[in-house]
Amino acid sequence: MALPPLPAFPTGFTFGVATSAYQVEGAADTGGRGPSIWDTFTHEPGQIADGSTGDVACDHYHRYPEDVALMAGLGTDAYRFSVAWPRVQPDGTGPANPTGLAFYDRLVDTVLAAGIDPVATLFHWDLPQALEDRGGWMDRDTAYRFADYSALVAAALGDRIKLWVTLNEPVVHMTYGYAMGVHAPGRMMLFDAFPTTHHQLLGHGLAVAAVRAHSGSPVALTNNYSPVHACGDTAADRAAVAAYDALHNRLFTDPVLGLGYPTEIDFDLSVVHDGDLDVIATPIDGIGVNYYNPTGIRAPDEGHPLPFEMVQLDGYPTTGFGWPVVPEGLRDILVTLTRRYGDALPPLYVTESGCSYPDVVGPDGDCADPDRIAYLDGHLRAVRDAIDEGADVRAYFVWSLLDNFEWAEGFSQRFGLVHVDFDTQVRTPKTSYAWYRDAIRQARR
Ligand code: FCB
Repeated sequence: MALPPLPAFPTGFTFGVATSAYQVEGAADTGGRGPSIWDTFTHEPGQIADGSTGDVACDHYHRYPEDVALMAGLGTDAYRFSVAWPRVQPDGTGPANPTGLAFYDRLVDTVLAAGIDPVATLFHWDLPQALEDRGGWMDRDTAYRFADYSALVAAALGDRIKLWVTLNEPVVHMTYGYAMGVHAPGRMMLFDAFPTTHHQLLGHGLAVAAVRAHSGSPVALTNNYSPVHACGDTAADRAAVAAYDALHNRLFTDPVLGLGYPTEIDFDLSVVHDGDLDVIATPIDGIGVNYYNPTGIRAPDEGHPLPFEMVQLDGYPTTGFGWPVVPEGLRDILVTLTRRYGDALPPLYVTESGCSYPDVVGPDGDCADPDRIAYLDGHLRAVRDAIDEGADVRAYFVWSLLDNFEWAEGFSQRFGLVHVDFDTQVRTPKTSYAWYRDAIRQARR
């Protein structure tokens, strides 16, 4: 079924693709890379759905020329990748490992030679294990280590990176990694994980200054945003919605935009030192928005450990992950951010949007993924609608270029425009790849 052409996007709008280091690079022991918390976690039995690890992943470390050629074939404007901290500083401190930096140097030059803008995320969850052994993000010192590491990367690549992202989805790293234990480092501290919020934000603020010392390109912070759907209309339900919204959508945005921590949740703020909030509110050039789905929330039952309870949203198609497909949620969150923060809000970049389906390469060699095409079409239209409603949105990055290692789900969730056979490393562009290539052309007209 042919979809109607996409509406034209503003001149200069960036269409990109995204990946992250641990999910694609592999080469876990190559070039002096140290272990990260994800190496440790994936090697513990029972943590990953299919028992897999990112040891090899998509072998992007060795196959990046082929992957950049795939990006060039798409006509994508930009490639968002992440730098693996343990490649640059194997134990999280001290001088840079030249072999680690040299990989990103080659990658960035290859991306630029293909006419594509490199966009670097400095932290996409792969903390050096040596720092976790000293407390990880629970330890204030990790914020300063992150700033040092960011300075090393910016000194090496600062002349070529077109957009920097300090942290990826700190809310997910805090909740999944430290509060609920389903991601590395696998700690289950519930609200006692609050110091990891504060220290990530402090690290972000310090890193902004560290990057700016070496690069004139814009610096952003990326978070996961999810419109909250109330599943109930009692006062208790409304309080639960406000609490969840504060935790998921505001905790890592309000302080960055100078508004301090939301008061809807009673955090122990004793880790906040004088002056920290000023560092955290260092002006930035963009907010990265990763959007996948809205969240249903109602008041918790008595004895529930959290001030809200999540409810599966019915009535929508779902992805392979079981996530509801709600394109207007992307318009909703972009417009909500615009209205909520007004002049304090810098430009918005959709740094991730995409879906997983159980895609297979058929006997004819094709990999048909019509559901992904419909998903991306709907979400691009939602971005266009948000722009019409006044949101200053500068970019849209598809998650992901490649099927890759999807954290606790291992290789069981395929998000790529390109299918990857994890036994042979053969890449097969899916039908969504050709669709996105054409969509970019249409939207640029
Ligand atoms: C986001 C992550 C990204 C990927 C997608 C599906 O939360 O930032 O690495 O796993 O989800």
